[in-house]
Amino acid sequence: MMVSSSVSSKIGSTGRFLRVWHRVVVHWRAIVLLLILACVVIRAAHFDEFIRFDLILFALLLVFIASQIFWIGRILDLAEWFLPGEPRRVWLAIIAGVVYLFVFTYSYPDWGLSHVVRAADYRSQSILIDATFWWWFVGSLLAFLLVIAFGAADRAARAAGWVYCKARMAMYEHSAAPDTEAAPPSSGRRRFLERTAVLVGATPFIAAGYGLLYEQQNVEIVRQRVRLARLPKAFEGFQIAQLSDIHIGPFTTADYIRRCVAITNGLKPDLIALTGDYVCWDPEAQGEVVRVLAGLRAPHGVFGCMGNHEADVGIEDSITRLFAAQGIRMLRQERAPIRLGDEMLNLIGIDHGNAPDAERQVEGDRRLRQLKALVMPNTVNILLIHYPHVFGDHELGIDLTLSGDIHGGGQLSLDFIHRGLNLGSLMGVPYIRGLYENGGEQLYMNRGIGITGFPIRLGARPEITVFELTRER
Ligand SMILES: [Fe+2]
Repeated sequence: MMVSSSVSSKIGSTGRFLRVWHRVVVHWRAIVLLLILACVVIRAAHFDEFIRFDLILFALLLVFIASQIFWIGRILDLAEWFLPGEPRRVWLAIIAGVVYLFVFTYSYPDWGLSHVVRAADYRSQSILIDATFWWWFVGSLLAFLLVIAFGAADRAARAAGWVYCKARMAMYEHSAAPDTEAAPPSSGRRRFLERTAVLVGATPFIAAGYGLLYEQQNVEIVRQRVRLARLPKAFEGFQIAQLSDIHIGPFTTADYIRRCVAITNGLKPDLIALTGDYVCWDPEAQGEVVRVLAGLRAPHGVFGCMGNHEADVGIEDSITRLFAAQGIRMLRQERAPIRLGDEMLNLIGIDHGNAPDAERQVEGDRRLRQLKALVMPNTVNILLIHYPHVFGDHELGIDLTLSGDIHGGGQLSLDFIHRGLNLGSLMGVPYIRGLYENGGEQLYMNRGIGITGFPIRLGARPEITVFELTRER
């Protein structure tokens, strides 16, 4: 009796699990819509910045899980089409789920078995697995969001048609207008919708492939004029090249960085500024990235500051020494006068740091005091800082801040459609890309040349920036 009741309870719980699973699959649109609405509410509410960040990340994770359920369902549809009748869908679902979980656990960062983010694995099979994983990750998530948008637009169009017919019937009571509510879509319309949905769903996968194989190394040279009202005459037309977020690694290779170095030298800048993140997560890569960047040439020198990755992997001191041995000066709570005749610019560099949340305020206040002591009044002050926490603090007297860090909006951006449509802005980051102005101070956010996390850039090309300083409007 006990055995049979235990077996029946197991069957019962399995049945309940399958019913819940089935409900999730059937109602995925409503679930995702609710999650997106929750995101909007969270964005609108004035939560503490870090709580909001975590909640948005959590909501994105849920959307991602929903997207994977959806795409596994579509893969099962395909499998059933190729294998009609046998085997049953539930077995296909179990096999697909096990395979998927294995690949995901192997690839996903910080789950112990991972090799994607933390380690630098240069073996070609690892690069191939990583590339495939991230292509699927980005492509399936974007495709899922597009499919939802497409489905919502279709529903809205049908609802509008229904309202229109009802209104017409009300106006002409004796009219024999058909009630479209009950009328199912014609087979021609259904075929059109299915084909359009397939096309819509396939586009992000193609785009992710483009971002992986081409855009992530398709460097753009950006020429930016910067007007500084108190620029000394001798510096009229002075050119500063900026490279940021180098991130040497399996996908940002030494050869690619060497190409960026050659392009930068070809621009013949007067000075070169490096704004941090020279490595990804591998401290041993510091030697190679320094050797490659040692090829940079500019008559007034090459200067830089530290990024968060140097702090995260604990190489701030060692990489500073390596750079110094190659004649590249890292400015760490330091300034360097740039002289032309009797006139000068004051170049300042500040560390990004990596203080834990509880100590962040203390570290920020200390950096601010150090920065105040480095600013020279009556001189143009140019600040190199990986992320511009201090931008907009007018008491400081910084004329121009050069930064990076955000990779043009988290490497995924639709800013060409509307400024602010990118991963960084979604996370609530205020400065993303390009030139910002605030009360006479200017900030330039460089998109960087390397990648971190997923090896894809979409709508956020890598850039080498060359600034031309001028007093003229
Ligand atoms: Fe970075």
